[in-house]
Amino acid sequence: MFRTTSEIQINISALRDVRELERARETPACLMIEDVPIGGSPIWRPISENIIRQIGEIDGKTILDAGCGTGGWAVWLAKQGAYVYAFDISPRSIEITNLRAQVNGVANRVSAEVFNIETNWQFDESVFDIVLLNAVLHHVQDHKMLEVMNNAHRVLKKVGKAIAAEPIGNSPLFEKIKYMVPSGHLGNWDYRPSSLSKAWDSWLQTSYGWDRTLTTGLLHSIGKNFDKIETKEFIFMGRLAKLFKNKQLVSLIAHLDDISISIPFIRRYCNNIVVTYHKTN
Ligand SMILES: C[S@@+](CC[C@H](N)C(=O)[O-])C[C@H]1O[C@@H](n2cnc3c(N)ncnc32)[C@H](O)[C@@H]1O
Repeated sequence: MFRTTSEIQINISALRDVRELERARETPACLMIEDVPIGGSPIWRPISENIIRQIGEIDGKTILDAGCGTGGWAVWLAKQGAYVYAFDISPRSIEITNLRAQVNGVANRVSAEVFNIETNWQFDESVFDIVLLNAVLHHVQDHKMLEVMNNAHRVLKKVGKAIAAEPIGNSPLFEKIKYMVPSGHLGNWDYRPSSLSKAWDSWLQTSYGWDRTLTTGLLHSIGKNFDKIETKEFIFMGRLAKLFKNKQLVSLIAHLDDISISIPFIRRYCNNIVVTYHKTN
């Protein structure tokens, strides 16, 4: 039903990246990274913290950041002492990543280039301690997912981890309700109209690739080459945070999120997951 091709993805990234690249060229200082990349809202912080916990000691690690976007993670990891190889399908994202690495003084630790995750991975076998797949698998076509994870397995060292953080939608009913509520701000690249509105059909034609959700089952099934898979769900109440600007209210929602997610039944209805695929021998 939905188009999820890389072509759509390039268009979506292009829209977002043009503005970001212009801003970066004008004021490179805006690319400075001080804190853990949390993706715009404190509601996302626990996801980033979980990723960091899964990575463990960062200093000296060799990390592949697949679908690196504009290099927030790549550069932050390099600043913590990692050697990072980053790639993305969007040339503008890669330009920003390289600029960001320079601005942050870690250009010698970050190597970034344009590359499509769905094509044959050109990297040697057993070179990375970590393969980070932050919010990129949901752009990969279903029939390419297993191949992508097999590539991740191949390029990992004998002992290593692939860490994927992704949006999930395990309940079809919940998903239907979710899409009835518009999200983002009109005119912004992340805007999504309500599925009940006239704008929905044309939005689907151009944007759905960005907003596809995966299922926990699918994320498990693509890891069959790995020795162990760990999952942790995030954001249940947190979905409401985008309705509010008040920081204290958002912190309260984040707190309620922590509590609600500790209830096993709720986890199926969460919005995000971090999956750690362990290679142990
Ligand atoms: C939601 S963003 C996440 C970016 C980054 N990982 C982060 O955490 O900020 C998804 C990224 O995946 C990239 N992407 C989508 N399809 C891709 C593909 N086939 N190959 C490589 N990168 C892709 C997009 O260009 C975009 O930068």
